[in-house]
Amino acid sequence: MTDTTTAVHQLRGGGVALVLAERADGLPEIVHWGADLGLDTADADACAALLAAGVAPVPHSTFDAPWPLTLLPGEADGWSGRPGLAAHRGGRAVLPRWSDVRVDSSDDRSLVVEARDPAAEVALRSECVLDEHGVLAVRHTVTSTAGGEEPPLDVAGVLAVVPLPPSATELLDLTGRWCRERHPQRLPLRHGGRVRESRRGRTGHDATLLLVAGTAGFGFADGEVDAVHVAWSGDHVHLVERLPEGAGRHAGVLAGGELLRPGEVRLGAGESYASPPVLFVHDDAGLDGVGDRLHRHVRARPEHPRSPRPVTLNSWEAVYFDHDHDRLAALVDTAARVGVERVVLDDGWFLGRRDDSRGLGDWVVDPAVWPADLGPFADRVRSHGMQVGLWVEPEMVNPDSDVARAHPDWVLGPAPASHGSAPGTRPWRRQQALDLTQPGAYAHVRDQLDRVLSDVRPDYLKWDHNRDLHEAVDAQGRPAVHRQTQAAYRLMTELQERHPGLEIESCASGGARVDLGVLARTQRVWTSDCNDALERQTIQRWTSLLLPPELMGTHVGPEHSHTTGRSLGLSLRCLSALFGHAGIEWDISRCDEAELARVAGWVALHKRLRPLLHTGRTVRGEEHDGAWWHGVVAPDRTHAVLAYVRLTTGADAVPGLLRLPGLDPGRRYAVRALDPTGLERPQLPRAVVQPPWIADGVELSGRVLARHGLAMPVVDPADGLLVELTAVG
Ligand code: GLA
Repeated sequence: MTDTTTAVHQLRGGGVALVLAERADGLPEIVHWGADLGLDTADADACAALLAAGVAPVPHSTFDAPWPLTLLPGEADGWSGRPGLAAHRGGRAVLPRWSDVRVDSSDDRSLVVEARDPAAEVALRSECVLDEHGVLAVRHTVTSTAGGEEPPLDVAGVLAVVPLPPSATELLDLTGRWCRERHPQRLPLRHGGRVRESRRGRTGHDATLLLVAGTAGFGFADGEVDAVHVAWSGDHVHLVERLPEGAGRHAGVLAGGELLRPGEVRLGAGESYASPPVLFVHDDAGLDGVGDRLHRHVRARPEHPRSPRPVTLNSWEAVYFDHDHDRLAALVDTAARVGVERVVLDDGWFLGRRDDSRGLGDWVVDPAVWPADLGPFADRVRSHGMQVGLWVEPEMVNPDSDVARAHPDWVLGPAPASHGSAPGTRPWRRQQALDLTQPGAYAHVRDQLDRVLSDVRPDYLKWDHNRDLHEAVDAQGRPAVHRQTQAAYRLMTELQERHPGLEIESCASGGARVDLGVLARTQRVWTSDCNDALERQTIQRWTSLLLPPELMGTHVGPEHSHTTGRSLGLSLRCLSALFGHAGIEWDISRCDEAELARVAGWVALHKRLRPLLHTGRTVRGEEHDGAWWHGVVAPDRTHAVLAYVRLTTGADAVPGLLRLPGLDPGRRYAVRALDPTGLERPQLPRAVVQPPWIADGVELSGRVLARHGLAMPVVDPADGLLVELTAVG
């Protein structure tokens, strides 16, 4: 391979680098992805030596010469795994042999590769951008260059890939279901593929936010790890593949892209398909390093919210569909008393919506429930200086709605004539999806929502999507998830353009639409419908691998959780909801004064800590004997706060010393224990003698905290405490 190399290109940022080598024919080879090698691309000898160092041997019964792993690997390159581009033209195989390859790289942060295959009549444009935090975004655009007389180019898949080193032997991905999103699962990385796909038409409760490959036993603070995330809310695939012969000079690949159904993308003359951005992250110091890079990447995006995240009261678990004015008025007034800054009126305000069987699609305020419209309610919220939010589910329709009755043909799914039954697909929460690829259906939702937004002037929409899309085909029977996802994105953007400043929360039966595609248009996700604070510990811990805390909705729910049947005390409920975009989802108008004072104490504490929580570095400790901790350290390391949580009883009577990494070893910190509800002291079991620092505080250096540790108190199961560390002097 070295003798055909013409130039070496390097992207570098955040201590990592992508090194590509141009070749006389075909796409550039990926020579290196990972820790920055300090390569000077102007030093021809150093480049040649690097290329030579990785040239693989040629074993028996394989290609006659080493072959390269390219940016979009295919059979012509020698790659026998899942191809970068899977396509055909009218049944003719498209196995590209790329020529006229041009690499444009004006700086060491981005490059564009352009190439074409004249025989297959396909052109390619690949964009790679590596930011200062070491997050690499790859996006491929495929264009059919054939004339109109040729059959269209059927694109079945476009994957972005990076190589994996042989030391990557263990995999981590996430799975879940309603009320139990994003739980980790680990397995060894062996030969073959590990594929995580979603065919749900939305990101999915079980979607893996990241697919991670790393050195054996990698954890939050150690191990060399690589991760991939597909920034897309429709069908998608995350993939690791390892073959016996490796991947060029590398051991395997990590890859991601949109999952396309047969026939979903058919490119006519001059038409293009652009893959969603696929993000890759490498870190030598474990999952916290990966998470921190992603958090900084996300925080640097122009669309990231910059204002303090308003403490929210959501009406759902407080009143459900009971939109009784007096009850809601009392709730609003109580919310103001405890310091809430935004009140969201959840499901139940629009035409006929007395339960979840009716009304979706009719985005008109129901005069039967709100005879004076929503104006007085919104005014009451605003009179307290709070913002107003409204729940909507724009992509859905109940068959029992005016719109579905008037336009049964707007329901997404096989035409009734084709199967002789009602429009749509197998019902789910008694609802169907609206086919937003139809201009009439799209305009209907846009215009009705636009009217409500103009009349009520909410600051915020909670935008739900309560079912998977199955058999998602348009009226002509064409697969529609790709276009439906684009239409949903367009609708969000259009409404935000018409109503500047409008924030949107991405909800999908809780956390089934959590990805950086939707988060390019939304300012928060509803992390899970599960407000059980103990379950939330795991859900949030793993969601925060991708999302910084300020994007995750975290609410204090009622004592008795309706989704798990478990009762939990206020302390853990407040602790679990403290770090994210915090809120309350509970009828606090029925609380007694003592309880209200604690809720108000929690709100005040959150507001005090919010600037730290929503800008700092997230750190996590592994679970040990039924307990774990997680925290946030300020970028300048002068301030930190952590939550120590006892999930279950432990085998050890004495919990032991907790070591806290991430602080400045040379500084001293005032360490104090805090109650999450603002009480003077954490409410810990009184019958035992707790470590003296719990009552008196202590001053310790960052080095002592990292290397020796701090004695944890005895804590009852399903409870915890906060520890605040403030640099002294
Ligand atoms: C979904 C959401 C909930 C709530 C209900 C309302 O389940 O996830 O938070 O808004 O819809 O119907």
